[in-house]
Amino acid sequence: MTAPAKLVTLSRHIHEEQRLHPEATGEFTRLLDDFLIAIKLIRREVSRAGLIDILGFTGGVNVHGEEVKKLDAFAQDRIFKAMDHGGHLCCMASEEVEELIRIPDPYKRGKYVLMFDPLDGSSNIDANVTIGTIFSIQRRVSGPPGSDGTLADCLQKGRNQVCAGYVVYGPSTMLVYTAGHGVHGFTLDPSVGEFILSHENIRIPARSKNYSINEGNTSAWDEATRRYIDHLKQKDPATNRPYGARYIGSLVADFHRNLLYGGVFLYPADMTDPAKPKPKLRLLYEANPLALVAEQAGGLASTGRERILDIQPTALHQKVPLVLGSRQDVEAYEAFVLGRR
Ligand code: AHG
Ligand code: MN
Ligand code: MN
Repeated sequence: MTAPAKLVTLSRHIHEEQRLHPEATGEFTRLLDDFLIAIKLIRREVSRAGLIDILGFTGGVNVHGEEVKKLDAFAQDRIFKAMDHGGHLCCMASEEVEELIRIPDPYKRGKYVLMFDPLDGSSNIDANVTIGTIFSIQRRVSGPPGSDGTLADCLQKGRNQVCAGYVVYGPSTMLVYTAGHGVHGFTLDPSVGEFILSHENIRIPARSKNYSINEGNTSAWDEATRRYIDHLKQKDPATNRPYGARYIGSLVADFHRNLLYGGVFLYPADMTDPAKPKPKLRLLYEANPLALVAEQAGGLASTGRERILDIQPTALHQKVPLVLGSRQDVEAYEAFVLGRR
């Protein structure tokens, strides 16, 4: 009989990673443990979404003018309630909430900030298609300790993130995270409620064979994006085939597939009015966390002109053009944008 692979839970893994930091107090481990409670509750709700009266709209509209689905609201509520009283956070920010989220009295204010997209890909919920949750953790920069966090704590460059990752609610539920020492994936065993290490040290292939973009928007793209996608449709001398198109419409699911198989995801700005470029994806809740994961796995994340992790955020709900995935594919896109190809 072959010996079983080592069984490592997510909590144990985070704990071990923390020991790589001499200043670690264990607080960070407890923060992620709290977060996991919310994730397990969301997963349970997602998995029985077809069975109970939770499908459909709440009737509300969020800060981006989008209709809020019940599961968006449920996920927002569970994450807030799991994280508000742990004493680890000084504030939170979410795609679904317009203002900075305060830690309610009388709970202690801590030294970290949590930013999240509670439910990503929500247009896919009613069709039983994979959706996700994205998270980003920064260390607070405002003072004094114990006071409320401020906008400055949230508006830090993505490269300062101490931890980032996502959960993908697919045929199985997986959590993928980085705390600056590579990217690791854990699969939930629902029978025991534990995330078990299943993908250690994930590396994204340097060059891919697939691209993910909403091609219905072609007429709104800039010239460089149009030329780049046309280029991918030509026969690739390396494979003798053009690139394949793969687009789910859930950023987490598209990114996750590209991370494991190789691929490039693009959501360029809408250039219908060239004087007013309109990007769609959010810097703090979507682009930054996935950019950190991509880079830690050996990939890249860019606007086409600038590294995502180097952008100085100026507003909570700031949006950016996003191109991320396999390193050589993102570099090729940048070459098109800069007019070198
Ligand atoms: P969210 O569900 O959090 O609002 O995000 C939706 C995003 C992202 O998941 C996806 O990549 C993108 O919107 C899809 O947009 P299009 O439908 O415009 O292609
Ligand atoms: Mn999203
Ligand atoms: Mn969302």
